[in-house]
Amino acid sequence: MLLATSDITREVNRAFMLLGGVSVVMLAGITIAMVVFAIRFRRSRARTATQIEGHKWLEVAWIVIPTVIVTWMFFVGHQGFALMREVPANAMVVEATGQRWMWSFHYPEEKLDTVEMVVPVDTPVKVELTAPANDVVHSFYIPDFRVKEDAIPGRLTYLWFEAEREGTYNIFCAEFCGKDHSQMRSVLKIVSSQEYEAWVRAERSKKYQPLVFEAVLNPEHEDFGPDRLNIDATALYQTFCASCHGATGDGSGLPGAARDFTNPADWKRSPKVTDIFRVLTEGIEGTQMRAYPNLSSWERVALAHYVRSLMEQGLLVDTSEEYAALVAEYELDKVKGPGETISIERAMEILSKAAEAADATRDGAADSQRAPAP
Ligand code: CUA
Repeated sequence: MLLATSDITREVNRAFMLLGGVSVVMLAGITIAMVVFAIRFRRSRARTATQIEGHKWLEVAWIVIPTVIVTWMFFVGHQGFALMREVPANAMVVEATGQRWMWSFHYPEEKLDTVEMVVPVDTPVKVELTAPANDVVHSFYIPDFRVKEDAIPGRLTYLWFEAEREGTYNIFCAEFCGKDHSQMRSVLKIVSSQEYEAWVRAERSKKYQPLVFEAVLNPEHEDFGPDRLNIDATALYQTFCASCHGATGDGSGLPGAARDFTNPADWKRSPKVTDIFRVLTEGIEGTQMRAYPNLSSWERVALAHYVRSLMEQGLLVDTSEEYAALVAEYELDKVKGPGETISIERAMEILSKAAEAADATRDGAADSQRAPAP
């Protein structure tokens, strides 16, 4: 329990042991005195009480000794506090955002967005904390490092630590913030600097995974068949969306606030796959819906398809022009990385076919059901 993982841990442990130790000594002393007095001055011995009027050295002792002890406690506590507030100048920065109900991390230097925190060992790390303006107060807590700080909407707070040993540690939310407060956990991985660099490279390549248009648009494709779509997108949906939008997309997670996917009336954007992708990429300003830049383009496409599949049938579908506009807007055809890619011409060809097929199956009823403008 008192395993030292950093200088701060040692300071907090020291203060804890001092406070705990003094309390135990006091408790023992008072209890023993109480028992001794109860026996010695019990009624059956019928002693007559003597009045003591002032005792100089006794009074000096009970003023001086407790004053020394609490001053000592203050001094030890202040030392730890000063250490916690003074961030070393060479600390690496990780920005953490607390939101109902997850922690997300941004690495400004490495330009990464993640949902777990990975940092190298023996490196001071400054965690800059905040919460979205329309969210509530959360508290970023790493028990093993004895650090905790509130994440306050619209304000910037911080904490720092320097890990001395590699390992996997818990990150909790220590402020009761609503229904899924207890689920608001994350993981802190302390790794060697080589492992950290490898992790950064892996995260980067994940972020720039290729978008294989053929697979995106063709449900028969092995990379994007119904199986893969269901497995991956369902897990993504349950991880990122279900707490607000409900397990089945009926908006039951956060009543009154989250979008009910089964009813696309008065949506800010159309219920088309391309627009759902945009929402996942940019969020919706002024609402609880945040952006998910930490998901790769692939994951966002999968999630958009999945969300779309939760909606009622007969809604407007994306046209090939809209797909093309999305590809151009996000330069999805330039997303680099390993894996199979196809030419943009071939992608457009598939897109037009898909749009034609959709046009053919769509009837007048669906046509009249206009989606509101974004
Ligand atoms: Cu966030 Cu409790």
